[in-house]
Amino acid sequence: MRVALHPKQALAFGSPATELLYGGAAGGGKSFLLRVSAIRWCLAVPGCQVFLFRRSLPELKSNHLRGPGSLLELLGPLTAARRVSLVQQSGEFRFWNGSTLRLCHLQHDGDLSKYQGAEIHVLLMDELTHFSSHQYRFLRARVRLGGLQVAAALAHRLPRIECASNPGSVGHQWVKAAFVTPAEPLKIWRTPKPEGGMRRQYIPARARDNPTLLERDPEYLDRLSGLGTAELVRALRDGDWDVVAGQAFEMWRADRHVIEPFAVPPRWTRFRALDWGSSKPFSVGWWAVSDGAVDGILAGALVRYREWYGWDGKPDHGLRLTSEQVARGIREREADDERIAYSVADPAVFGRHDGPTVAERMAEHGVILRRATNDRKAGFQEMRSRLTGLDGRPMLLAFSTCRNGFLRTVPDLVLCPHDPEDVDTTQEDHAYDEARYACMSRPWTSSAGRGARGDRWERLFGDQPHPGWRLS
Ligand SMILES: Nc1ncnc2c1ncn2[C@@H]1O[C@H](COP(=O)(O)OP(=O)(O)OP(=O)(O)O)[C@@H](O)[C@H]1O
Ligand SMILES: [Mg+2]
Repeated sequence: MRVALHPKQALAFGSPATELLYGGAAGGGKSFLLRVSAIRWCLAVPGCQVFLFRRSLPELKSNHLRGPGSLLELLGPLTAARRVSLVQQSGEFRFWNGSTLRLCHLQHDGDLSKYQGAEIHVLLMDELTHFSSHQYRFLRARVRLGGLQVAAALAHRLPRIECASNPGSVGHQWVKAAFVTPAEPLKIWRTPKPEGGMRRQYIPARARDNPTLLERDPEYLDRLSGLGTAELVRALRDGDWDVVAGQAFEMWRADRHVIEPFAVPPRWTRFRALDWGSSKPFSVGWWAVSDGAVDGILAGALVRYREWYGWDGKPDHGLRLTSEQVARGIREREADDERIAYSVADPAVFGRHDGPTVAERMAEHGVILRRATNDRKAGFQEMRSRLTGLDGRPMLLAFSTCRNGFLRTVPDLVLCPHDPEDVDTTQEDHAYDEARYACMSRPWTSSAGRGARGDRWERLFGDQPHPGWRLS
């Protein structure tokens, strides 16, 4: 049997990463790639134990055992030659060289515990977002070489995990946070030890990357476009991971709101915003107000040019630093000649319990804080208006370096189930709160935006007095 992979599939197939996510959109040849990969590892490494997971048994069967390109078809010549046999009862293909390909699912609650003692050399997860992060971590912890002998040429590639998925479903957030947000697509990076310490990579692929599908079914893309809401279409056709149900900031577009860092002109007003936290993360944002002189950034737009997000790498876990340490950390991150016009902080830092307040302690170390306006609904509207901007050009942008806090958490925030005018506060919302304080310190919609939008000049300059100009 000759199998030819499409270029994107071949990229994933040959990738030196050891924990990869392929796809991120519908129809990109994800499941096919996993099947070919499963067979390859079984053939290439005698004794290899490959586990291919799909969340439910019916999906496993219909997706991987039926139709053109199924495992039965791909393995047909080998089963005919009696070099591979399918053991129905255990759901595994046994290869003559001692390798096995196990077809697995986690349909029932207790299913995960079946893999407690498993030694997985190659873990393949189809539709990763159908699994919980707990299930994935559990299985990842079973990925090890054990006594497997691997030829030198392949040694660095095993043990390994290959995942495929569309956006959406129950695991959308954690898969996005693990694979999509932390690094540029295709970049291979080593995860920290508690995260498995593997070489992780995200390889995006869409239906367009799968010519077989488009040849067999030329209307596939049109059908995807008619799928339902614009958001769902963007998720499945375009592989847009920023689309989530009940998204608080549905106008968020990574290609519009995230910009590569540049040297912020010294004349731009700079300020800080802080949301305090100790056991929960704190968030410090450094913001600059555009004067319109940098191409593509409207005057009055807020640019988040730096952040310090105080988390320990686990969702919603803080660093437990003292107020002095945070104040010193803030100063250390700034250039000696960086002029900060003001700093706003959440009202909690002014709360007195016993002894000096957080604000007082930070003031001793040169960080003077002002109480932020904490009207949640007004702040939410301010931020929405700024993200919407004017004529598709945002009034709030973030440097791509603000990855840990703002870019990881804000696009995924969802609306409060009981109050569509607010964000659900049970989420990791510290960078959002801090950005909200920043927005409220420079109201844009209320002065130049909401209702009467002001004249053209006002719209051009926002609330920021242009050097040499004043609007009256
Ligand atoms: N390299 C290839 N050669 C031949 N057929 C292929 C190839 N890649 C994919 N296909 C076929 O294209 C069709 C769609 O591919 P596949 O099911 O792998 O996509 P998918 O990304 O998993 O789709 P979905 O989003 O529906 O899960 C299948 O019939 C598959 O067998
Ligand atoms: Mg599939």
